[in-house]
Order: sequence, then structure tokens, then C-alpha cells
Amino acid sequence: MSAIEQVVREIAEEMRERPDRGDVASYIPELARVDAGQFGLVVIDADDNVAVGGDADVPFSIQSISKVFTLTLALGRVGDRLWERVGREPSGSPFNSVVQLEYERGRPRNPFINAGAIAVTDLILSGHQPREALGDILRFMQFLAEDSSIAIDEAVAASEQRTGFRNAALANYMKSFGVLDNPVDYTLGVYFHHCAIAMSCRQLAMAGRFLAYNGRNPSTGLSVVQAERARRINAIMLTCGHYDGSGEFAYRVGLPGKSGVGGGILAIAPGKASIAVWSPGLDANGNSHLGRVALEALTKRLGWSIF
Ligand code: DON
Repeated sequence: MSAIEQVVREIAEEMRERPDRGDVASYIPELARVDAGQFGLVVIDADDNVAVGGDADVPFSIQSISKVFTLTLALGRVGDRLWERVGREPSGSPFNSVVQLEYERGRPRNPFINAGAIAVTDLILSGHQPREALGDILRFMQFLAEDSSIAIDEAVAASEQRTGFRNAALANYMKSFGVLDNPVDYTLGVYFHHCAIAMSCRQLAMAGRFLAYNGRNPSTGLSVVQAERARRINAIMLTCGHYDGSGEFAYRVGLPGKSGVGGGILAIAPGKASIAVWSPGLDANGNSHLGRVALEALTKRLGWSIF
């Protein structure tokens, strides 16, 4: 067994025992039904070795982790013009904050808070039907993960569509400033559905590999994005990937990471590994509690912090 496999298994066992699991997201009713006792961890290194621990193959709702991939896709479509619509600064506010949008005249602070991700989704949608845009996003995930079984959990999407009043407020507010081009319900429909993509830790770590290896997929050698773009997406994950918990995550884990309220985190150790962890219980900022604890242990034991 390799050193990485050993550490991954140890951590998965330790996390199983922990009583402090956080609380599952309750504002999306379908996510409130998830069993908080689950835990998965997968690390894929530069030689495409896969180390797995715990519930590595159980699909979960990736939620905001999808925003990394929609950002990548949108940058591929419109290039740096994207930054005219969305900023690149940490928000220091909750992911669904309304107040900052008014101060900044409808231009979201970054592509990972909900407002920013909705604006990015609107760019992907432009000129297409919602179904086509969603198909593009899903096929991109399947291509990156090399797994055509990845699908949208329609129950989660419908649950959020029924209850997503805050996102509707954010989208309508941006529309009033001309930040969205498409009908608000089209953009929101695509946004809710890409958040509802279900993936396992194994699939997610596979999908994140291009960010760890200078924009390339290490198994095929194919370039997904230029090295410079991968580096910049990592920078935004480090500074904005955990919302108002981004400083704490950088301090403790020391890697670019993106969380989702389904309890998943995608973390990137540049040049070393693509890492996915999942524990459904969240901390006060809406980020996976044990996911962060596990990543802190992993980077400490393997010496992988970028600092
Ligand atoms: O829009 C929402 O509120 C959810 N679909 C995604 C939020 C999320 O994952 C925040 N992450 N920790």
C-alpha cells in the first residue's frame, strides 16, 4: 500500500468515529434527508493512482462545487470578458448574501458566491435553450470524470426550484442592472440543475485533475485549459472557494478548495493531487465540517500545504 493510500484509509477511519459531524443543509428540503453519518475521501495523484477511503463511490449533490466547472466552461466560451460581469475578490459574506450586490451595483464580487455563479450560468446560457446549456455542462463533467453515468438528481433540482426564493431575488436584482441577458427563470433553471448534479468523491476527484496538472488530464495528456487558466481558477478557489470561511480553510488546509452545501469539497494540491472529500454535515458557513477536518489532517500528514 502506498503512503497516500495508507493516510487516506487512516483518515476515513478516524472520521467515521467522530461525533462532531455538523448539520446537514436544511434550506433545500431534499438535502435535509441525507444521512450525516457518511464520509468519503478520494485522492488521485499525478500517475493517476486512486486512493479511496470510506463512501468513495456514493453519489452526493455537488451543489456549489459545480461552480468551478461552470466558471471553466464560461471562460472557455467568452474568455476574460467574463470579468467585466463578475469580480475576483473574496466576499467576506455568506454565499447567498443580498446586501453586497446593492453596494456594488449588481456586479457580484466573485464567481463562487451564488450571485456570481448565476451570472456565470447566464453567460453559458446565452443564445441557447436551457436544456442545451445544461447538456453542455453535464457532458463537460462526464468528459472530465471519464464517466458517462454522471447525472442530475431531479428531486434535488425540483426541491431547490420550489424553495430558491433568495436566488430568485439575487437574479432579479442583477437583471435590473442589466447583468443578466437571459430570462431570469431560464438562468435560474440551469443554475439549480447544475447545482443538483450528483457525483461520488471518485468522480469528482477525476473531474478536478486538470486543475492539479497545469490544465491537462494526466491520463490522456489532453489539455482541458491552458496552464495559466488552471492556475488562476485555483487562485480563485483559494481566495473565494469557501465564502466567508475561505481564510480559515487556507489557514488550516493550505490548498485551493471549493465546497458545496451537499457536504462535498474539491481540493487541489498543484502538481500533486486532485482530492475530493464528502461529509454531509456543515459548519456555520455552510462548508463541510469533517471535510475540512479531514483535509487538514491530509495536508499535514503528507506535507501538501502550498504554503
Ligand atoms: O444556490 C444555492 O444555495 C445552492 N444551490 C448552492 C449553495 C452552496 O452549495 C453553498 N456552498 N457551500
